[in-house]
Amino acid sequence: MPASNLQALVFNIRFEAKDIISIELRPARPDVVFPTTEAGAHIDLHLGNGLVRSYSLTNPGDENRYVIAVLNDKNSRGGSSYLHQQLRVGQVIEISAPRNFFRLNESAGRSVLIAGGIGITPIYAMLQRLLDLGSSVELIYCARNRDEAAYIENINALTKHTAMSKTPIAVQYHFDGEKGGPPDLTHLLAGRPLDTHFYCCGPGPMLDAYEKACEALGQVNVHLERFSAAKDMQQVTTDSYRVELKRSGEIVQVPSGVSLLDALLQAGLKPDFSCREGVCGSCEIKVISGEVDHRDQILTKQEKAANKSMMICVSVCRSSVLVLDA
Ligand code: FES
Repeated sequence: MPASNLQALVFNIRFEAKDIISIELRPARPDVVFPTTEAGAHIDLHLGNGLVRSYSLTNPGDENRYVIAVLNDKNSRGGSSYLHQQLRVGQVIEISAPRNFFRLNESAGRSVLIAGGIGITPIYAMLQRLLDLGSSVELIYCARNRDEAAYIENINALTKHTAMSKTPIAVQYHFDGEKGGPPDLTHLLAGRPLDTHFYCCGPGPMLDAYEKACEALGQVNVHLERFSAAKDMQQVTTDSYRVELKRSGEIVQVPSGVSLLDALLQAGLKPDFSCREGVCGSCEIKVISGEVDHRDQILTKQEKAANKSMMICVSVCRSSVLVLDA
């Protein structure tokens, strides 16, 4: 297992909403220390069935306790169904240290958080953090139905608690079943000053609508996190290229039509990976040289242009040689 991975005890499993459970993890032994987490961070769970899946943490800043929430996804490829049906309290599993590609700008004067369904998990963490900071924050929480929305009671308790403070939370719920259809995000997000920071996590179509709405409204501080690759992600192929791993001295030829991740796995190497879709960040490797076509959904335009690291599951190399810090 990678040196940074941690052994975690499944301490508690709790019903949060229809088809959603939360899972509380604690260090499996006294010598295991969980790094403190930030709002927006996620961890990878190495499941007993060999799968690795990423989940956002809901409890930022908590010492030695990680809490995730998991939807029993009807289209599960094995991750959520394993967690719902087979994981048991008392089991020990391997997890990664937290990674954060969905960071809050904590100095923003005003933040608007938008959650769709299980996308509430990082958004709920952000809400707690912004309230701890005394920042001005709004929450727009959308779900198909009220009984499918996790953490409503916690959010209502926070709303009540802050009602008398200088920074009360403004919360809007949108349940498709009650409103007769999905939200009109352009309408819901209109009228905010241009220095507002927006954060959205939810299903792909909602994120596509969110990006379009923010563009139409001229908003520039637009942040999002996807669970899976955008629908219009094109598969790209390249000519064969050579990869040099500077630290280990390994040299691997990546054939045309094969991902860099698969080429390394086929060569007997053991790179970290989870989603294989460029959305979780677990396969990130530092780039020393080479012309990378970045295909992931994580790095910003500036980070892609800087070419300091790449997600090897989806990004490809356009030059004949790629040198990695690995
Ligand atoms: S495995 Fe998730 S970004 Fe590459």
